[in-house]
Amino acid sequence: MRVRASLHRDFKISRIDDRLYSAFIEHMGRAIYSGIYEPGHPQADPNGFRKDVLELVRDLKIPAIRYPGGNFVSAYRWEDGIGPKEQRPVRLDLAWRSKETNQVGINEFAQWAEMAGIEMMLAVNLGSRGLEDARNFAEYAIHPEGTYWSELRRSHGVKEPYNVKMWCLGNEMDGPWQIGHKKAKEYGQLANETAKALKALDGDIEAIVCGSSNDQMPTYPDWEREVLEECYENVDYISLHKYFGNSSNDTLNYFAKIEETGRYIQAIGGVIDFVKAKKRAKNDVYICFDEWNVWYHRREEDAQRWRTWDWPEAPDLLEEDYNFEDALFVAGLINEFIRRSDRVRIACIAQLVNVIAPIRAERGGPAWRQTIYYPYQFASLYGRGTALKVAVDGPTYDCKVADDVNYLDVAAVHDERACTVTLFLVNRHLEETVELDMPMTGFPTARLIEHKVMAGFGLRDANGPDHPNAVAPRDGTGVGVDNGRVKGHLVALSYHVIRFD
Ligand code: AHR
Repeated sequence: MRVRASLHRDFKISRIDDRLYSAFIEHMGRAIYSGIYEPGHPQADPNGFRKDVLELVRDLKIPAIRYPGGNFVSAYRWEDGIGPKEQRPVRLDLAWRSKETNQVGINEFAQWAEMAGIEMMLAVNLGSRGLEDARNFAEYAIHPEGTYWSELRRSHGVKEPYNVKMWCLGNEMDGPWQIGHKKAKEYGQLANETAKALKALDGDIEAIVCGSSNDQMPTYPDWEREVLEECYENVDYISLHKYFGNSSNDTLNYFAKIEETGRYIQAIGGVIDFVKAKKRAKNDVYICFDEWNVWYHRREEDAQRWRTWDWPEAPDLLEEDYNFEDALFVAGLINEFIRRSDRVRIACIAQLVNVIAPIRAERGGPAWRQTIYYPYQFASLYGRGTALKVAVDGPTYDCKVADDVNYLDVAAVHDERACTVTLFLVNRHLEETVELDMPMTGFPTARLIEHKVMAGFGLRDANGPDHPNAVAPRDGTGVGVDNGRVKGHLVALSYHVIRFD
């Protein structure tokens, strides 16, 4: 299969915001407890944080992390997680029918995030609570000193305020399952007032308002319009969520869900522009895609279990085993975020450890990288700079969710500072090799510096505690560059990261 793709140094999409490679972690299942925090584990540090997990997290170079939820946040009392640990109450987590011991709260999480080198992005509870608690939480976290809440933080041993600039105004407030679910207008007004209050505390705060829980919600996309009509001038981002799966066992259709996601982003971009025009507003609102991932392997089974179980503590929940097919999907989805980086400024893989996550960690046992860890890692390491347009001229396919889908999925990033160009390519064809011919106009002296490939695995192959490196990248061959023209072959069902300087 011959594919001609071309790019030009001056045909730019956008400067990519580093936060496109952010993550999300929730008090849910074993994400926090026995995920990042497990006192007594052989790898635990004196504060109870798992060093093995921390190392895998650090290697991802994650810029920002959304915390503490998710559905969890909509009934969370943040004050339960501060002060002496032995005095913290155990509460019922209404979202996941579990027990929350509150042994990790904002101060422990901040300590972990600092060790991991990640900026925090905090969510406030606009479900069971509201503006008053949001401002108290923010004042506790970010005000330097001399007030009730800031002095309380200082009395808890945290003398310096946290530098938190990103604040999420609740979570999935359109969802009837959400504790404190609201109608669009009501939520939009609350979000507007809460954003105003947070920005009164610190004018540099960026506020993220909830969009729909996904693009299949009955109220989508009117929800976005109605919410933004209430709060457009006071918010900076609108959040999108979407989870993916291949329940019908149709690989090409699964991959094409990336096209569907492009349409979702485009539609919300249109809503943003509509509201901006209607309000004659000057400010811009961007997209924060703050929950995305594959979630279907155990979804039904888990939903049955958690609806009936008896409030366990840190239960095994949503521990998806990702396979090679999922890695190819995730690679393509991140390519779509790069191609849409003019609209999508922040995106968070959901989640980070154990719960629908690229990193898994057994209680008392080892931690390992899942298949999807690698495309996420490569994008985070090499996907920073300016996204370039790539024109692809090659065979396409039609399927249930989209027509005219390119078999070859490509994104290109020019890092002007490092003077490198990185191509991220996925050959989605089930059988055929791509014979690639790709002029890179404006890069006449480009030299190949690195080629990593994930290929040759069965679509259902996965990693596990006994075979942690079964599916992993290796050095690639068969691609070269001459006179600014990339040529080579990419075997069927393969992912490539090809870098030039
Ligand atoms: O990430 C798991 C859950 O998915 C989150 O709590 C919620 O926001 C979404 O529905």
